[in-house]
Amino acid sequence: MQIYLDTANLEEIHEGFTLGVVDGITTNPSLIKRERDRLAAKGEPVEMKDVLNDILETAGPEHPVSLEVIGTTYADFVREGKILYDTFNGVAGNVVIKIPINPVIGESTQAQYDGLKAIHNFAKQDIPVNCTLIFTPEQALLAAKAGAKYLSPFAGRVDDYLRKTFTDNEFDKTDYYPGGGFPEEGVCYHDDGIVSGIDLVARIVHVMETHDIEVFDGSKPAVLAASLRNARQVREAAEVGADIATLPYPVIGELLVHHKTEEGMKGFVADVVPEYRKIFE
Ligand code: G3P
Repeated sequence: MQIYLDTANLEEIHEGFTLGVVDGITTNPSLIKRERDRLAAKGEPVEMKDVLNDILETAGPEHPVSLEVIGTTYADFVREGKILYDTFNGVAGNVVIKIPINPVIGESTQAQYDGLKAIHNFAKQDIPVNCTLIFTPEQALLAAKAGAKYLSPFAGRVDDYLRKTFTDNEFDKTDYYPGGGFPEEGVCYHDDGIVSGIDLVARIVHVMETHDIEVFDGSKPAVLAASLRNARQVREAAEVGADIATLPYPVIGELLVHHKTEEGMKGFVADVVPEYRKIFE
């Protein structure tokens, strides 16, 4: 499974690529806002073009970087996606245009098809698209058929919805929610049959494995598990066959932690004898 960083934070991105485990970057307007606020709080001038150039250059040609459109209609998506691609793909050839599966907000159904149409428009130009805000396997299927190279199910937000809707439990959004669902009296809480964020990812993986869908470059659409917030969720995303997991930077740190690793370290450090230490002097 590939690992992407889900951040626009330049410090995290610079540091992340020194680890040798980061395969790409995903951003969205909320993550860009967070980075704008971080830089502004440091009193640094925020020139967004420079921020994006830095992200793309740091990632380099082998590591895709998703940049999201900001509008809500087909015309917006086509115009903004083209601006993003034309302005920034020249930096390192790694821009992926991120488009929501369905941009409708509120009652209007006018724009319901606009995400798909825009995905298809870019796919026809061989421009890679990451389809975002996927909450059902059927949305993923349509995005794949329209030509999206990456399918982004938002696992953590499914878990948020289920625990908010069906339990009175206080929770932090980084808390683990069982990938197998939360059973009560033999029945799992579910959102139209989806029992957890990881279940959503698993079902999309299954659909992609079952059907031969190819995108413009002959590859199969990659299932990019997004909105992952803790280590165990990442383990489960890997177990169910997600092609990519995009993670907040601190979650990579969490993946490294085990109490027996720490206990072992204590023992090794305590057992260093002077004769051995001398070797290193
Ligand atoms: O990549 C999607 C991600 O940024 C959303 O994460 O934690 O806000 O649901 P979250």
